[in-house]
Amino acid sequence: MLFLLLSAFFAIFLFQQLYWKRRNYPPGPTPLPFIGNFLEVLKYEAGYQAFTNWRKQFGPIYTYWLGPFPFIVISEYERMKETFVKDGDAYTGKFGLEEATDLFRGGKYGIIDTTGETWREHRRFAMHQLRDFGVGRDLMQSKILLEMSFLAKDIENHKEGEVKVQEMFDIAVGSVINQFLFGYRFDEERLPELRQLKALVKLQMEKASDPKAIALCFPWTKYLSIGNDFRELLIQVRGQFWAFFQRQIDEHMKEIDFDQDESKDYVEAYLKERRKRKAPVGEKEIFSNENLMNILVDLWFAGLETTSNTLTWAIAYLLNNPEVQEEIHEELARVIGSDREIIMSDKNDLVYMNAFINESQRCANLLPVNLAHVLEKDVVLNGYEIPKGTGVLAQISTVMLDDKVFPEPHKFNPKRFIEDNGQLKKVDELIPFSIGKRQCLGEGLARMELFLFTANLLNRFKVKPGRAGPPSLKKRMGVTMCVETFTCLFEPKTY
Ligand code: HEM
Repeated sequence: MLFLLLSAFFAIFLFQQLYWKRRNYPPGPTPLPFIGNFLEVLKYEAGYQAFTNWRKQFGPIYTYWLGPFPFIVISEYERMKETFVKDGDAYTGKFGLEEATDLFRGGKYGIIDTTGETWREHRRFAMHQLRDFGVGRDLMQSKILLEMSFLAKDIENHKEGEVKVQEMFDIAVGSVINQFLFGYRFDEERLPELRQLKALVKLQMEKASDPKAIALCFPWTKYLSIGNDFRELLIQVRGQFWAFFQRQIDEHMKEIDFDQDESKDYVEAYLKERRKRKAPVGEKEIFSNENLMNILVDLWFAGLETTSNTLTWAIAYLLNNPEVQEEIHEELARVIGSDREIIMSDKNDLVYMNAFINESQRCANLLPVNLAHVLEKDVVLNGYEIPKGTGVLAQISTVMLDDKVFPEPHKFNPKRFIEDNGQLKKVDELIPFSIGKRQCLGEGLARMELFLFTANLLNRFKVKPGRAGPPSLKKRMGVTMCVETFTCLFEPKTY
C-alpha cells in the first residue's frame, strides 16, 4: 500500500515537473526537478554552447529553467528589438533571489537589482553625473589620457621584464572609475585597496560558480545546512566591501561644503542631492545611505571589471593573431604617423582599430548569460500569454555568436566589420552593452576607455608574447568572463 502511494506521488511529481509547470511557456530544454537546466549550462565551457544549441533546437524564443524559475530566452536581434526595445517598459523588471539580495545588499537597493522609481531615479542621476564629469567630452578624455600616460610610464619602468596585463588595465580603468566616484586614483599608496577588493571579488566568484550556490534558490535549504558556507561568505564579503565604501562616504561627509554647487565627484553630488530631496519624516527616502552604498558597489564593479577584462582580451587576441597587430601598426603609421597622443576625434579615421575593438568585444562576449529581467506586465510571446513577474533574458551572447551573421563565429577576424569599400561596417547584432531600457548605462565611458587605451597603447608599443608564449584563450568565470592571467612584453615603437 505504502509502495503504491509513493509511486502515485512520484508519478504526480514527475507529471507536474515535466509537463504541467511548463505547459504555458514556449517549449525549451527539459528541466530536471529542483535544479532546472543549470547542469547543462555548466557542462559546456563558459556556458555559451548550451544556449547556442537550444537556439538551434527550439528557435529564437524558448524557456530555460534556473532552479524553480522559468526564463523566456530571447536570442535573436530582431525579436529582442520587438520586445526589449519596442515594448521596453514591459521588460524593465529585474530578477533577484530575495535571500541573496538581502545577504549581499541588505535589501533591494542600488541600480542593477532595483526596479520602479528607485531604479529610474538613480539611473537618470548616474547618467547625468557621467555627462557632467565629462563623458563624451574633453574633460573625461583628459582623465583617461592621464591614466594612459601613467600606464605607459609603468610599462617603460618594467624595462626587459614582462608585464601583468590584467593588473595593468585594472589599475588604469580602476583609477578612472575611482576618480569619478571618489575623486582619487590608485597611486602607489592606494594600490593595496584595489588589490584587496579584487581579491574579495575573486573569492566570491569562485564560490558562486560552485553548484551548491543554487541552494539560494531555495531559502529552506538553510535549515538543512545546505549552501550555508556560501551564505556565510556572502555576509563576510559584504562586510568588507561595505567597510571600504562607507569609509569613502564618511570622509566625504567630513569635508563636504553643501553651499558649493559644483561637486568634485559622484559621492559629493549624491550627498548634496540627498539633502535637497530630504523627505518629511515617515515618508520613503529614495536618495538614502543604503542606496548610495549599493550604487557605489554597482558602478565600481560594473565600471572596472567589464572594461578592464575587454582590454585584456583585446591584448590576448592580438598575441594570438600577429597578422592583426601588423594591420593595426600599418594603419597607425599611415593615419597618425607619429607618437602623438591619439584623441577621440581620430576615431573615425582609424577604421581597422575600430574593427579590432568591435571584434574583441564580440569574441570576449563577457556575459554568457545576460542579467536576468522580469516582466513588468503580461505579454504575448510566440502565441503564449506570459504573465507579469516571469523571468526574461535578452541573450546577447547567442546573438554575437550567430553563425548566420558572423560566419565562423569563434574565429577572431576584425575584417568582418569592414565594408568592401574600406568603411567601418555597422552590424546591429554587435550588442555587448545589451539592448532596451536597461542597456548598460556606462556605455559612453566604456567606449571612450576602450578606444583611447587601445589606440594609444598600440601607437606607442608593439606587443610580444612572453616566455610562456601567447596566452590561452580559455574563458575563466569572474564577475564577467576573464582571460587566464598572463604576462607579455611591450616593445617601445620608434618613429
Ligand atoms: C566594456 C564595458 C562594458 C560592457 C560590455 C557592459 C555590459 C553591460 C551589460 C550587458 C549590461 C546588462 C544590461 C541588461 O540588463 O540587459 C550592463 C548593465 C550595466 N552596466 Fe555595463 N558594461 C560595460 C561597462 C560599464 C561601465 C564603465 C559602467 C559604469 C560606469 C557600467 C555600469 C552598468 C550598470 C550600472 C548597469 C545596470 C543598468 C541598469 O540596470 O539599468 N557598465 N552593462
